[in-house]
Amino acid sequence: MKIVSITNLKGGSAKSTTAFNLAGALVEQGYKVLAIDLDPQQTLSLSYLGVGAAPVPLSKVLMEDGFIDNTILRTKYQNLFAIPADHNLKMIKDGQVQIEGGELRLRSSLTKKPSEKRVTIRDFFDWVLIDCPPSLDRLTMNALVAADMVLIPVDPGAGGRTALADTIKYVSAAQKWYNPTLKIIGMLINNINRQTIYDQTTEQAVRKIYKNQVFKTVVPSSVRIRESAEMQTPAVFCSGPEFKRYATVYRQVCDEFLVRTGAMYGT
Ligand SMILES: Nc1ncnc2c1ncn2[C@@H]1O[C@H](COP(=O)(O)OP(=O)(O)OP(=O)(O)O)[C@@H](O)[C@H]1O
Ligand SMILES: [Mg+2]
Repeated sequence: MKIVSITNLKGGSAKSTTAFNLAGALVEQGYKVLAIDLDPQQTLSLSYLGVGAAPVPLSKVLMEDGFIDNTILRTKYQNLFAIPADHNLKMIKDGQVQIEGGELRLRSSLTKKPSEKRVTIRDFFDWVLIDCPPSLDRLTMNALVAADMVLIPVDPGAGGRTALADTIKYVSAAQKWYNPTLKIIGMLINNINRQTIYDQTTEQAVRKIYKNQVFKTVVPSSVRIRESAEMQTPAVFCSGPEFKRYATVYRQVCDEFLVRTGAMYGT
């Protein structure tokens, strides 16, 4: 099992969309996936995956160092499970509660032996994807501390490159203080319109700085991607010829992801 944090300080940089569609593509390939929504906005769990509240909220498990298996819900896809976010995560995010070892709580709960006679998260899942909130706060640090790797979706819009640099600095802080083996899988350029000079220039600038850390595949800007989230159906599972192109894009993202994470050999 590998734990992947999907992180970028910038709001609207397609973190949740990436988590949603990558989870779908991994499930399509036969992997068992757990998607954790660590953002109090609940976009991934409530809006995209359409799951409700868990018997025990994630915030409670983190605050009380409890058992995370009680927070896991099924989705409409057999091998895709989700831990929904809840509003009280905001208390952790904003530092409203004093928690001893506060940055380590997600890691602790993911590695803890389960309650009752259940299998461990590590034994059951192939991939755990953590969708982070759009700020470099305690929740995001929890994700970076728990993760083996981090995937950074990049928005080519204004402020996207500064946010990317700040996000990388935060990842370095996580590596320095808590998680020296944390690896950056790469940056995935999202929501790009290669027909515009502006987006072409931005893509070139990102590739010039971050070179082969940037995914070869880019996710184009399309209303179909918004529609697929609206239908709570990852692009790879959307029927209809209008979604075919985007299903292919996310299969390519997934293949590149598997090569970059070492789960599959590249060609
Ligand atoms: N490739 C794309 N084409 C068109 N729209 C997209 C694309 N990717 C994401 N979007 C849209 O952009 C908006 C923000 O995406 P998303 O929620 O994934 O970003 P986020 O980084 O998770 O945001 P937040 O920081 O608020 O959590 C959503 O409305 C989403 O549907
Ligand atoms: Mg989000």
